[in-house]
Amino acid sequence: MNEFYQKDIISIKEFDKEQLEKIFVSTDKIMKLQPIERREISKGKTLAYLFYEPSTRTRLSFDSAIALIGGNSLGISDISSSSTQKGESLADTVKIMSIYSDVLVLRHPLDGSSRFAAEVSSKPVINAGSGTEEHPTQAIQDLFTIRKEKKKIDGLKIGIVGDLKYGRTVYSLLYGLGNYDVTVYLISPESLRIRSDSVYEIKKRLSFTESTDIEEYIDDLDVLYVTRIQKERFPDEEEYLKVKGSYIVGLDLLQQMKNDSIILHPLPRLDEVSIDIDSTKNAKYFEQAEYGKYTRATLLGLILNKDGF
Ligand code: NCD
Repeated sequence: MNEFYQKDIISIKEFDKEQLEKIFVSTDKIMKLQPIERREISKGKTLAYLFYEPSTRTRLSFDSAIALIGGNSLGISDISSSSTQKGESLADTVKIMSIYSDVLVLRHPLDGSSRFAAEVSSKPVINAGSGTEEHPTQAIQDLFTIRKEKKKIDGLKIGIVGDLKYGRTVYSLLYGLGNYDVTVYLISPESLRIRSDSVYEIKKRLSFTESTDIEEYIDDLDVLYVTRIQKERFPDEEEYLKVKGSYIVGLDLLQQMKNDSIILHPLPRLDEVSIDIDSTKNAKYFEQAEYGKYTRATLLGLILNKDGF
């Protein structure tokens, strides 16, 4: 049996290096298959999505991923039009949706929401973002992008810049990178450093250097992972205004970077990567978004097929 069959995907911490490599190899395979072959992988299977927070890429990439492998999707992306408005609980909504589907994808503002959903669901649950805690499929997509574009992960110098306090993609990426031998620089305003409650966990997996100055290590980086300041998670608008626009990656900064360095961003972007970077060979965030479709199709294919594909 394939080890991912019927598996919940709640945290990237549950994946070791060998398992990640299996997913990457299967993703390489899915990218090479003919459309007609791909559509056999999960023919007739249904994915249900339940999004309590806004999303463009994550939801649509799950939609297109299940279609790519022959399945279909249904779900709720606008919670104001669902029975949640009448007071239906998350547990009941999840139970009902798992009746209509083979796999469930949940995005929710609370930490722990996906783990809770997995406990009450009769079908596997994929965490598509739980509060400020984690976004494991984004990390798989990010790691796949690094591996694809740099041909390796071990040995790289990786800078992560922006909102390290509230950005859930950062936590999943750091836990995922903990499987590799990498040098990590964390660059943020003082008030947006990674949360002290997670530092212990992250330090068990990798060592990192913190800085407030993006130029300090810029010429040494192989990968610069830029994140959006998560305005909606700030308890106080004043605090947001203090850090808004702290780092803007523009051509002047790119000039200081290695010729073959890459710039990633989970998107959506506001002003933290200027649009004139888009046409440079270093910008890989749109490729990263495209790989998200294939890595998610792979995960779904593995979760839904006992013997893999
Ligand atoms: C991220 C998220 O929702 O955490 N978006 C995404 O899924 N690509 C990042 C963000 O919102 O800034």
